[in-house]
Amino acid sequence: MSFTKVQAHRGASGYAPENTIAAFKKAIEMGADGIELDVHLSKDNELIVMHDEMINRTTNEKGLIKDFTLAELKKLDAGSWFGVKFKNERIPTLEEVLILVKTTPLFLNIEIKAGYRMYKGIEEKVLALLEKHNMINRSIISSFDHYSLVKIKQLNPKIKTGMLYSASLFEPWQYAKSIKSDALHPYYITLNKDFILNAYINGLAINTYTVNDEDVMTKLSRGRVSGIITNYPDKAKKIVSSIQGN
Ligand code: G3P
Ligand code: MG
Repeated sequence: MSFTKVQAHRGASGYAPENTIAAFKKAIEMGADGIELDVHLSKDNELIVMHDEMINRTTNEKGLIKDFTLAELKKLDAGSWFGVKFKNERIPTLEEVLILVKTTPLFLNIEIKAGYRMYKGIEEKVLALLEKHNMINRSIISSFDHYSLVKIKQLNPKIKTGMLYSASLFEPWQYAKSIKSDALHPYYITLNKDFILNAYINGLAINTYTVNDEDVMTKLSRGRVSGIITNYPDKAKKIVSSIQGN
């Protein structure tokens, strides 16, 4: 059994439009261990799965997610930007993804896009939905907004949290423990063998993003990193299995 778990970044986003049901189905089909996705709140407070806070790049409309209702967002084409055959893809809600994923063995890495306190109450909403679908034990909440992670732990100490960051932080395991984070979610270029060892000695898992290069996947797999977050889960699974076994 492989130690390193492969997470499909925004679904299998190298093969289908990111953060759509097509990308999540592809990740399941490719044997990913987990799925990473990003959440925001719509104007009518529904949990929306999308990366950017604006809909410009991945739909046929312009503006901020928070200024559209779910019904308005559901009318948009979230697939054509990636390829004509995806023109019927819609923006999913978090609940739609939970309904899909709960029938599989995959886990979820839910990234809360809560920067600048834009989405009041998003933490409560995410937890309520995970509780409703019995997915607390199969999920990890991550965010670059560490206030959001602290709030998540205060609301439900049973859920795992992962601290996202991109800079080369000094001994981040000390800080991670101070915010009760279960995992470090660093940008992969900040990692080396000593770092990985120190994180493990301090009880922290390491799920690193976004690893699309096969040489880097190989190094991280040899270094026995806890999780590789990638747009190409098929490539990462193959490499991890060949180094660590199935
Ligand atoms: O969770 C890893 C990764 O998704 C963080 O960055 O910008 O792709 O959401 P981003
Ligand atoms: Mg993300």
